[in-house]
Amino acid sequence: MTPPSAASRPELDVGYVRSRFPAFSQPELADWVHFENAGGSYVPHRVIDLLTRFYTVSKVQPYGPAGPARAAGEAMDRARELLPATFNADPDEVHFGPSTSQNTYVLARAIRPMLDDGDEVIVTNQDHEANIGSWRRLADTGITVRQWSVDSDDGLLDLADLEALLTERTRLVCVTHASNLAATVNPVRAIADLVHRVEGLLVVDGVSWAPHAAIDVVELGCDIYLYSTYKTYGPHQGLLYCRRDLLDRLANQSHYFNESKPEARLTPAGPDHAAVAATAGIVDYYEDLHHHHFGTDGGDRSLVDRIGAVYDLVAAHEEELMAPLIEFLVAKEVRILGSTSTSRSVRAPTIAFTSDRSSGPTIVDALAAAGIGIGHGDFYAKRLVEAVGAPDGVVRISMVHYNTIEEVRRAIAALDPLL
Ligand SMILES: Cc1ncc(COP(=O)(O)O)c(C=O)c1O
Repeated sequence: MTPPSAASRPELDVGYVRSRFPAFSQPELADWVHFENAGGSYVPHRVIDLLTRFYTVSKVQPYGPAGPARAAGEAMDRARELLPATFNADPDEVHFGPSTSQNTYVLARAIRPMLDDGDEVIVTNQDHEANIGSWRRLADTGITVRQWSVDSDDGLLDLADLEALLTERTRLVCVTHASNLAATVNPVRAIADLVHRVEGLLVVDGVSWAPHAAIDVVELGCDIYLYSTYKTYGPHQGLLYCRRDLLDRLANQSHYFNESKPEARLTPAGPDHAAVAATAGIVDYYEDLHHHHFGTDGGDRSLVDRIGAVYDLVAAHEEELMAPLIEFLVAKEVRILGSTSTSRSVRAPTIAFTSDRSSGPTIVDALAAAGIGIGHGDFYAKRLVEAVGAPDGVVRISMVHYNTIEEVRRAIAALDPLL
């Protein structure tokens, strides 16, 4: 289905959006600007309600035949059906794990038996360590690990460099959809096409991009896609998509008697039942946004299309948030990691920078004093900050759709004397 054109598209109603998040009506948070969303987002009442409900009426061993045990299983199944549908995957293809770091850890163990000694794995130095470390450790077991390196000026990856690294022994390429610092979208589809040409597999870390865009794993062409729901307005969970035919070839990591359960193969521990159930609230929240902005228009839209329509509004709003901030920082001649484009098709509204005028901790402290929460450090993208010559870290301001232009103006006013 074609999305509404820009002319007919409503604007994101940020007041409505904020009314969905209990955090914004808490007196102790009233003047606080949350600009560290890449570390974790606020949670809408839809998610909190499901979590509360689970803990209140179904905190029992789920999947019993009756009563609260049955209700608990049904609540979990609802999430296991709904979440995969949001990114065009089948329920059998998606694992609910405790975090993305843990999911890649398990995945590396599951993939190793498919590889022969001397096979090659390519990782970047742009990624969060979650999508590097587990793969690099395969070098201790006879795998050759190669690095697709960023440009040391802007921290960006060049497709031509990947092409030069690919060989007939390449089995796996691991890359971020958008870095948690450089925040610039990597061309996943083009990467997938290159990797598949040598019959390799593509693992994509979507943690930093999933809070900002509708994801379609089929369109992206990746074999594995990971993201963390505590950054997409949900509870602390890591979702792991693995193409079904690939999943069947991976070594089972769950109890031997669970081997035939696709949803268990890559989750060695029992799931956090309440958190699994509450992830469905993310979808309920998207549905609220769709209904508020489009009413019953587009009633024939699929879930993926409804979420896509919502994210079109989000993208337009996020562009409005990041444009003045990037323009201000460029005018101040600070060093921004990644692209300085203000287009949402190019980058996420996560802006990491260093300044010659003030240290990172000074900037973070000054903004905290002004009631604005931002961060400083390597954010576990240690190899990236080292590669761009900022080993002491970067300042990061990360926004999402519930942030406002007034908050951006407040941040600019607080930054102005420091830069
Ligand atoms: C880009 C990126 N990948 C992976 C992770 C790790 O996610 P998790 O905390 O779920 O292990 C993070 C966390 O900040 C991240 O920003």
